[in-house]
Parts: sequence; structure tokens; C-alpha cells
Amino acid sequence: MRAVVLVGGRGTRLRPLTDHVPKPMLPIGHRPMIAALVERLAHAGVDDVTLALGFRPEPFMVAFPDGRVGDVTLRYAVEPEPLDTAGAIRFAADHAGIDTTFVVANGDIVTDLAVADLVAAHRRTGAEATLHLTPVDDPSAFGVVEVDADGRVERFVEKPTPGETSSNLINAGTYVFEASMLARIPTGRRVSVERETFPAVVADGGLFAIATDDYWTDTGRPDLYLAANAALLTGERPERCRAVAPGASVAEDATLERSLVEAGATVAARARLVGSVVLDGGFVGEGATVERSIVMGRVGAGTTVRDAVIGADGDVADGVTVADARIPEQG
Ligand code: GTP
Repeated sequence: MRAVVLVGGRGTRLRPLTDHVPKPMLPIGHRPMIAALVERLAHAGVDDVTLALGFRPEPFMVAFPDGRVGDVTLRYAVEPEPLDTAGAIRFAADHAGIDTTFVVANGDIVTDLAVADLVAAHRRTGAEATLHLTPVDDPSAFGVVEVDADGRVERFVEKPTPGETSSNLINAGTYVFEASMLARIPTGRRVSVERETFPAVVADGGLFAIATDDYWTDTGRPDLYLAANAALLTGERPERCRAVAPGASVAEDATLERSLVEAGATVAARARLVGSVVLDGGFVGEGATVERSIVMGRVGAGTTVRDAVIGADGDVADGVTVADARIPEQG
């Protein structure tokens, strides 16, 4: 079975990290999130994945130079300009010559969904497309999906006000498509799958969905990216990882709470990390405290950093306190 994975977004909410590394190439539990996603698709029988690339395609090609992740063949479809989600799916599927049922996945989702269950549900109902849904506590910031007792999608409610819908299920970013979905997507312009394509399929009665309560998170915001990493330390997921990757340098008397340190990162003596991730190339100086932050650049000795994102070019001086910051600041 084949799949298209969307990885061409700019990842603006994770700037300045994404000025250097595309969001799906950032690690979760010491591995690029795209590698874990491709592996999950492989468990469902996917053996051929087309990456829908746009912004910054090179890091993917460098990371997977032989065009494989395990036994899965990778293809690269690079858009000449950003085509938005549906436009990217059509472009990538045309590039790969997809003409039968296929899987689509957002490249920045971390979940334990068994994709085979989604495919089985799709085949059972004879849907034109089937969505994975996940419950959220507060649906007011999301596009909520209403389904009937048979799993047929009845409507989408964008950012519902209290009482507007009884559903708390949101689009979780993994789909199964019949090839006929492709003809619904116009070429050569930006097309959003949620705003334009899915509502048209709902009108024809062909969109179905299944909700699961598997672990699920979008990694698009710094706090969510940190939570997705911490979940691999806490036992929230069946899979676990070590806090310190082989190839990281962490002083013996540094302390780590719910924090991860990647290969190529350095944490100096008496530094303290709380709910943070230090990425490849990141440096945390002697006696520094880093809380709820992501560090790809340098944090000086004795410095305190809270709720911050320090990009590869970020350099926080010794002995200062920085909070709620993106460094370097965005122009
Ligand atoms: P933000 O800029 O922070 O909103 O992040 P993003 O660019 O990743 O956007 P969003 O999270 O809404 O995108 C959902 C998924 O679609 C991600 O996996 C993106 O990589 C992907 N995506 C978004 N727009 C495009 C596009 O124009 N082309 C391609 N190929 N992928 C896209």
C-alpha cells in the first residue's frame, strides 16, 4: 500500500528551530518524527511513501540518502510553490502515479494509532475517504467533526462556541483516500483539504471517520513538542526512551527532570533541565537552569531560561534571565 506524508509546511510556530530543521525532521525521543511515522505506516502494510515536500526539501534527502526508511521506499515530490494540504496531496500522488486506495498523514503528528484499523474501517463502509479523529478536552480552538452512528461525517464546525456542537472530536491528521479523491482537488493553486475538499465529500455522503483514544498530539507548538518528547519518559506511551541519547555530553552533576538531551548536545556541570529538550548542537552552560524550553543554540553559564525557544543561532549570555522568548527574535 502507498502513502503520501505532508512535510512541506513552514512550521512557523516552532521558529527559530524550523529556520534550520524542518518540523518533521525534529526529534521525538531521539529520532526524527518522520522516521517513527514511516515505521508506523509500515506496520499497516505501507511499503511506499511519497513525501510531499515544499519548504526546505534538502534535509529529508540528506537524512535518507538511499531513499528508504527500513523496508519502506521513499519518494520525494517537491512542490514548485506551497499548494496547501490538499494541493500537496494531489501534487505528490500525481508525482508518484497513485491510482488506488492510499493513506495520507500529516508529518507533524505523533500518535499510537494502528493505521491498519483505519484502513479496515474504510473498507468496511465503502467510504471515499476516512478520517482518524481524536477527542480533546476543549474543542473551541479546533475544527470539530460531527459523525452519525454509522461513522458518516455529517459536518465540520470550525472553532465551536459553547453549545454549538456536542462533539469533542477533531481531525487527527491521518486519512485513507480512494483515488477518486484526487480528481476533486484542482491543480495549480492552493487547496485546503479541511476547508475545501472534505466539505465537498461530506455533501456527497462519502466521508467517514473513526475516533480512537490512542496517544495523540500535534507537535506544532513548543509546549506540544516538549510534551511529545516527555511522553516517552513517563510511560504515557507503550514505547519509552532514555533521557540522554548516545552521543550527547551531559556532566555527571547536571540534573534532568522530564528532559531529553540529543546526540551532539552538551550540558555542563551543575546545569538543571526541567521539562526541556536540548537538540543537536545545543549547549547549556555551567550552573544554568533551563525550564520548559527547547535549546538548539547556546545558553550561558549561570543563566536561567524559561518558556523559551533558542534557535541554532541563538546565544544567551552568561548570568542573565530570559523568559517567554524566541532567540534570535524573529524579524
Ligand atoms: P505552522 O506554520 O506552524 O502552522 O506549521 P505548518 O507549516 O506545518 O502547518 P500545519 O501544521 O497546519 O500543517 C499540517 C501539515 O501539512 C504539516 O505536516 C505540514 O508540513 C504540511 N503542510 C502544510 N502546508 C503545506 C504545503 O503547502 N505543502 C506541503 N507539501 N505540506 C504542507
